[in-house]
Amino acid sequence: MMSISSKITGYGHCVPSKSLTNDDLSKIVDTNDEWISTRTGIRSRYIAENETTSDLAAKAAQMALKNANISAQDIDLLVLGTITPDYTTPSAALVTAKKIGIKEGVPAFDVSAACSGFVYSLTMADNMIRLGQAKNALVIGAETLSKITDWSDRGTCVLFGDGAGAVVLQATENEDETGVLSTKIFAACDYVDNLRTNGGVSTTKQAGYITMDGKEVFKYAVNALAAGADAALSIAKLSADDVDWLLPHQANIRIIDGTAQKMGFDKSKVLTNIANHGNTSAASIPLALSQKVNDGTVKKGDIVLLTSMGAGFTWGGAVIKI
Ligand code: UT7
Repeated sequence: MMSISSKITGYGHCVPSKSLTNDDLSKIVDTNDEWISTRTGIRSRYIAENETTSDLAAKAAQMALKNANISAQDIDLLVLGTITPDYTTPSAALVTAKKIGIKEGVPAFDVSAACSGFVYSLTMADNMIRLGQAKNALVIGAETLSKITDWSDRGTCVLFGDGAGAVVLQATENEDETGVLSTKIFAACDYVDNLRTNGGVSTTKQAGYITMDGKEVFKYAVNALAAGADAALSIAKLSADDVDWLLPHQANIRIIDGTAQKMGFDKSKVLTNIANHGNTSAASIPLALSQKVNDGTVKKGDIVLLTSMGAGFTWGGAVIKI
């Protein structure tokens, strides 16, 4: 019997119109371009002033649909990785679905896994497609972390940015080995306090702001990113040598470099956009992926290894063939 798997047929992304440079930030908190760029690799980031998470998600989704040459009416599953939904309820997935015209009856839900939100969402959608529960899925990572950033905390506010990325996943019985080759997700609940908001609906009745033990997160991140990538490679029965591009979550250039070094990847094989986007949480991987596919850096047939790590801690990897 032919088995079903998912192909990626469209890529899209969107960022808010306002860009905030390190020099701009130095007027808000006691920091400077030199500190931020050497410690993090970030030079500027996009900040949502008038856009909501679903606005960015909808634009990224529409670009991905156009790219895949299918209509929103054909979508039968929408999964959105985010920790910054427009409302506490309904989900940002449903608000996005309304904006782009998804049909009545189509399941749409948010996945809360912080910076691993896209890899988690991709895992959900890919598995639902493999089970025959969906044929044409939109998988989105979208965030407006600027809304839960404490703009007086220089230890965190220099790191984050806003944006969205999306892919269209379509069921295929064609065994040509393109699409999602493997996914694997993990979490470790011992670290719930190392990176979290200082409020929430059932504690302070407010969303709260991000607080972080940066050093602990840093230490854990390199190992987790490598572990997620290794697990996905092993399920796909591939080795690092088979991979054309490593696309790690864009948290900090030193974390990205450390992961690449640990896994034996040359810098030339690592996709990054952190310099101009900062850490966009669940959006970081699909945003960079869409940019690199659409500008021709990543080409048809390339094998891309995605790996993420975020609050929770959550982490995970996926191997995709373009
Ligand atoms: O998706 C996961 C999300 N989180 C992350 O990826 C964060 C992971 N952690 C990191 O990226 C790094 O830990 C940071 C970039 C956040 C911090 O880098 P660090 O090398 O660990 O710096 P530090 O926290 O040890 O701070 C060193 C110094 C401190 O001053 P003193 O105590 O040595 O006088 C800080 O107060 O740098 C100071 N500092 C700053 N200085 C200028 C902290 N933030 C800033 C800043 N500008 N923005």
